[in-house]
Amino acid sequence: MAAQLRELAQNPPQDANERRELYEAARLLHMSLETPFDAMHRLFWSVYQLPMTQIGVDTGLFKTLAEDPNRHWTLTDLSVDLNVDTKLLYRILRYLASFGLVSESANGTYHANSTTQWLSTPGAEGGTKHYLKTVSPAAHAFPETLSQQGYRNPTSSTDTAFQKAHHTDVSAYSWTPPDPTVLPAFFEFMKSQRASQRNWTENFPVDTLTLSEKEIQDKRALFVDVGGATGHQCISLRQRHPELSGRLVVEDQERVIARADEAELNKHQVESIAHDFFQPQPLKGAKAYYLRNIMHDWPDAKCVEILRHLRDAMAPDSVILIDENVLPDVGASWKQAQKDIQMMSVLAAVERSVSEWHELLGSAGLKVEKIHTYDDDIGDSIIEAIPA
Ligand SMILES: C[S@@+](CC[C@H](N)C(=O)[O-])C[C@H]1O[C@@H](n2cnc3c(N)ncnc32)[C@H](O)[C@@H]1O
Repeated sequence: MAAQLRELAQNPPQDANERRELYEAARLLHMSLETPFDAMHRLFWSVYQLPMTQIGVDTGLFKTLAEDPNRHWTLTDLSVDLNVDTKLLYRILRYLASFGLVSESANGTYHANSTTQWLSTPGAEGGTKHYLKTVSPAAHAFPETLSQQGYRNPTSSTDTAFQKAHHTDVSAYSWTPPDPTVLPAFFEFMKSQRASQRNWTENFPVDTLTLSEKEIQDKRALFVDVGGATGHQCISLRQRHPELSGRLVVEDQERVIARADEAELNKHQVESIAHDFFQPQPLKGAKAYYLRNIMHDWPDAKCVEILRHLRDAMAPDSVILIDENVLPDVGASWKQAQKDIQMMSVLAAVERSVSEWHELLGSAGLKVEKIHTYDDDIGDSIIEAIPA
């Protein structure tokens, strides 16, 4: 059987659903076969995976290999090209190959695989830095933080493991990292994070978002991306649905809007506004207020504040579209559960289950009209909300 599994590993299925099913089954098998000795290796030494990935990024290793995935590099050639000591590079490569981040051939040469190629992209580089520099210290401070808080469910985004780890009083979103490269890295990661997943418009009746000629002339906003970073979702909507006429507006904190590429926004007729979503919404009566990955950043009380400002701005036919993971009440996957723990340790926030979404929206005077799940992997969904 082991031989059959090895053979399958050489020729994995290409169909996305089959792949995912097999991936989960193999993971279960892996866990069921694990001895305490295996578990010791998995838990105690896994702390090096992210730092070693950062070294692969910093040395230019992933980029160099990914430039030509067909090229098989000798250690000597790579060492000269990257200017890394041969002995050190050999040990780095041995580690990265053992975790599948690069490929090692039987003749001792190295080449890029699909993970290497992904790791050479700006989004993966940004994510590596964000998780190493911002999130990992919070993960390490998490046990002590929970213990000191008497094991209460965290509800304050200024009293989490993040503050303890980074010696700050401010919440993660108001924090200025001492390393100026950390914030741009986060934004690169945000842009790319869900690029391989399906897009929300693929399972949402986008034609319900049309405006009348008069509304267009009156400059009614069609789509306001609240906390939309530098506008990538507005641009994506314009590109995917050029037939949608009306104003597309991205709102975010002033320092984030200042980073937006104005020429790119203009090219796609996207407006930008610096706006704090804890203040009253300046664009009244938009057809749709869209929030992606915002609610999962905040504890319930803060989410209610954000949502109430939107509810106050809504016209009778406005909708709020919340683009987030919806977890099942029972049987959440490991990907969903680990994201939830991250949100808790950094932001006292939550990845919410179906019941929790209903409860949250109810507290803000809203109700769930429909949940449109567009990617089953981690439950990416549009929660369509209207006033209760
Ligand atoms: C997780 S990111 C999501 C960005 C974007 N919606 C996306 O899905 O790619 C959260 C965003 O919320 C923004 N944000 C945080 N606090 C904010 C505030 N008080 N007012 C407006 N935006 C805020 C951040 O600047 C960041 O762009």
